[in-house]
Amino acid sequence: MTHVIVLGNEKGGSGKSTTAMHVIVALLKSGRRVGAIDLDLRQGSLSRYLENRQRFCEIKNKDLLFPKVAKVEPSNIDSRVAAQKQETENLQAALASFEECDYAVIDCPGANTHLSRLAHLHADTIITPLNDSFVDFDLLARLDPETGKVTGPSLYSEMVWMARKQRAMSGAASAIDWVVMRNRLSATHARNKKHMGEKLDELASRIGFRLARGFGDRVIYRELFPVGLTLLDLGGVNSPVRLTTMSHVTARLEIRSLVAALNLPQSAVQAAA
Ligand SMILES: Nc1ncnc2c1ncn2[C@@H]1O[C@H](COP(=O)(O)OP(=O)(O)OP(=O)(O)O)[C@@H](O)[C@H]1O
Ligand SMILES: [Mg+2]
Repeated sequence: MTHVIVLGNEKGGSGKSTTAMHVIVALLKSGRRVGAIDLDLRQGSLSRYLENRQRFCEIKNKDLLFPKVAKVEPSNIDSRVAAQKQETENLQAALASFEECDYAVIDCPGANTHLSRLAHLHADTIITPLNDSFVDFDLLARLDPETGKVTGPSLYSEMVWMARKQRAMSGAASAIDWVVMRNRLSATHARNKKHMGEKLDELASRIGFRLARGFGDRVIYRELFPVGLTLLDLGGVNSPVRLTTMSHVTARLEIRSLVAALNLPQSAVQAAA
């Protein structure tokens, strides 16, 4: 069975594609077979990331690891019902093509699209990167403006809740594991960081997600995209690019820590650690 990992958050720019790429490479490096689907059909950041990686290999004559990629086409049928049926079949066909893969990683757009909702229905694990801002928090939960207390789930949480409900009704043996990770954590702004942490802790038990240690705010993530590399490709004797600073080493540890926190099937965790 292919374990399906979905990167989702309706908030744009929270780090889904960057995290997807790093999780893919981490799993590949642990010897796992990985399938990748980019459902952000408009921006296609994950697809572009992989194209850049391919180009880097060609130009530099390097041999890097790649996932198996399956494309999911949007439907252009006018009837909404027929279009959704076709998209459902397209996603199922893409996942079926990963039969020999240990994991499928699906990168969702920062919007509530039909394909994104479908992907959540297939998820064994959902990873939600969240910028350290209450603007992003608002998609997970509403806060009472006066007391600052969490008053209830919000748009994206409701979507995950629906996916969980449908999965339970389908008789699936296991529930969806939902992991929220804070992204772009700043070394400064300690007060906001602490406040966000408290609210997320409060919310985690209430709407049922686990909090994983997140990624720091580092320019290197933006620099690696055009060359198609991840932090895990840097360092070592055959490294295509040198691992330069302590900050990069720390960032790599953060990625390994996230992969370990996912609690993926035992063998994969051991190999990725
Ligand atoms: N930890 C980080 N530190 C610094 N920059 C980051 C970090 N994570 C992501 N970024 C940068 O933030 C931008 C948005 O990241 P990314 O494209 O991964 O988000 P996304 O959630 O996939 O966005 P969208 O919803 O538009 O698909 C990119 O320029 C990326 O390089
Ligand atoms: Mg993206």
